[in-house]
Amino acid sequence: MCGKRSDMIVHETEPYNAEPPRGALAGSRLTALDTFYVRNHGPIPQLDPSAWRLRVEGLVQSELELSLADLRRGFAPRELAVTLQCAGNRREGLIAVRDIPGEAPWGPGATGTANWAGVSLAEVLQSAGLHDEASYLEFIGADVSPEAQPPQRFGASISRRKALAGEVLLAWSMNGEHLPAAHGAPLRVVVPGYIGARSVKWLERIVARATPSENFFQARTYRLLPPDSDADAGLSGAGVALGAVAVNADILTPDDGAQVTPGSLEVGGYAFAGDDRHVIRVDVSTTGGRRWGQAELIDASSRWAWRRWRTRVEVSPGTVEILARAWDSAAGTQPEDPAQLWNPKGYANNAWARVSVTTES
Ligand code: MTE
Repeated sequence: MCGKRSDMIVHETEPYNAEPPRGALAGSRLTALDTFYVRNHGPIPQLDPSAWRLRVEGLVQSELELSLADLRRGFAPRELAVTLQCAGNRREGLIAVRDIPGEAPWGPGATGTANWAGVSLAEVLQSAGLHDEASYLEFIGADVSPEAQPPQRFGASISRRKALAGEVLLAWSMNGEHLPAAHGAPLRVVVPGYIGARSVKWLERIVARATPSENFFQARTYRLLPPDSDADAGLSGAGVALGAVAVNADILTPDDGAQVTPGSLEVGGYAFAGDDRHVIRVDVSTTGGRRWGQAELIDASSRWAWRRWRTRVEVSPGTVEILARAWDSAAGTQPEDPAQLWNPKGYANNAWARVSVTTES
């Protein structure tokens, strides 16, 4: 379905929500299109690229209506390797602490890295001319989500600072191919370092506003709630809108529960830190966190992309738990235990990565 590999873990078929198995992300710096996770809140719209237009409106000096050809002709091409990571990535670790009814148990595959090409949002905004009071930029997609209360198009907003920082893209291409329908064709926003929900697909409108978007997916959900609040507390605006991604890492190989031969074992995974932070180190332990060794960081595609990492550990006969944690450039690291992070919607699990392996007898 949607041109994805046959072993995708499908959390929902309608709307289509799926992630690749753990090991599938391990092999390469960029995630293949058939392997990249898909997170939808409504049916995938099939838009005609020749009829499609982007409107830029609100607190701007001149409203714009742009076709794809206008974007290609009027602005400098921009290409960046960027990791997208869903706020629900690794939710299964929080569900293991306490159930989170109604939310899918995403594993570590609700993330991926692609080369996105298009134009810089900042240039398009400069051409429209932002008023001084335009503190937020709202993005509105073409898809209507029946999950929203009331049903509405998917939308989000980011601050003016982030929108003008240069790295936010309006992208029509992914890994050198036309953007697939499932990933937002003909044009999507790519907000590097922020939760995936801010990277609005099937983009049709950009609205310059004085206040953050009131869209359901900005103002009512994708909010971090205190652990003792109701899951629907966000509906009345409680909690904090999620933005920049906290430092995170997971182990991609070996698989959890794998049978391995005793001796030296290669371990590998990804690490990612949001917004203006980057990964500086990944530690790996087979002693429950009493002693840590450092992994080798192997990719540095762009400051907005994950670092894959690898190391070797010694596995003695029996069952061994392998742990990993990343550190970021602000000396932040991952908390040990998902119980410390549990929240009613199951967002932002960045607890230590853990897989267990058993030696073959
Ligand atoms: N944009 C629209 N229009 N509709 C959506 O449902 N889902 C968001 C975001 N943009 C969504 C959207 C979420 S929650 C995530 S994590 C990313 O898209 C996922 O992008 P992908 O499906 O291309 O991997």
